[in-house]
Amino acid sequence: MSARAADTEPQLSVRDVAVRFGGILALDGVRFDLHRGQILGLIGPNGAGKTTLFNCLSRLYTPASGDIVYEGGSILSSPSHRMPVIGIGRTFQNVSLFRRLSVRDNIRVGAHSTSASDLFSESLALPWVRRQETRIDLVVAELIDYLDLADVADVPVNGLPFGTQKRVELARALAIKPGLLLLDEPAGGLNHEEVVELGRLIRQIRDERGVTVLLVEHHMGLVMSVSDKIVVLNFGRKIAEGAPPEVQSNPDVVAAYLGGSTR
Ligand SMILES: Nc1ncnc2c1ncn2[C@@H]1O[C@H](COP(=O)(O)OP(=O)(O)OP(=O)(O)O)[C@@H](O)[C@H]1O
Ligand SMILES: [Mg+2]
Repeated sequence: MSARAADTEPQLSVRDVAVRFGGILALDGVRFDLHRGQILGLIGPNGAGKTTLFNCLSRLYTPASGDIVYEGGSILSSPSHRMPVIGIGRTFQNVSLFRRLSVRDNIRVGAHSTSASDLFSESLALPWVRRQETRIDLVVAELIDYLDLADVADVPVNGLPFGTQKRVELARALAIKPGLLLLDEPAGGLNHEEVVELGRLIRQIRDERGVTVLLVEHHMGLVMSVSDKIVVLNFGRKIAEGAPPEVQSNPDVVAAYLGGSTR
């Protein structure tokens, strides 16, 4: 593929994805493209299918039909543990960390998920494993600094404030050096100042690290201010797609979602 074609090809293509849970069609033919370096806001009422789509993108669910193409190849033939290697990182709607492990060790888990070593090679302390451990230490230290976690680096995540735990989860996702970052309600439970800081951070991550971002968020102030493009889901269907101002004034979107929930 020529450099020019690579620039115009979408980095991520969600193609007519459908997911069914018993009688519920949680996703019904959802289709959109995302280009490298874009921030896409995925919004919609509770139960619209946003997390279900994330779970397809991280291969926790397999769509009943449709395809998901990332960097030119379908991800559907790869298992979920390959997603960090492929370059798709995520955070969870309900923070999902190893609660008894320190901040540093949680971030290490992320960095390790892209490494080739296993417990057997590690136990032999082979030279290439030691070199890799040094590389991982550097990645972890850089992220502790980047996300301002130095003061709590060796504390178990258990007792930390929710906002700090969310930063740890973000650091763990960044430790895989993702090309695409999936953030599921990163502003949930944060106070006003923390949300403002998060918006700045999401843009900074995109700008400085060249990471494409797919952001699920109910906080309209945040999602409308950081996103280049918005996709709106309702009952598993895409009802609108476009630039933030366009979507905010779309009557279908106002009726289904924004009418009662602008923050
Ligand atoms: N594992 C599951 N088993 C059965 N039904 C599920 C499962 N996961 C999601 N659903 C259903 O699929 C639909 C979409 O749920 P999903 O969690 O994707 O919504 P969401 O847009 O993320 O909502 P919220 O904004 O509340 O997080 C809902 O009707 C939900 O009850
Ligand atoms: Mg959800």
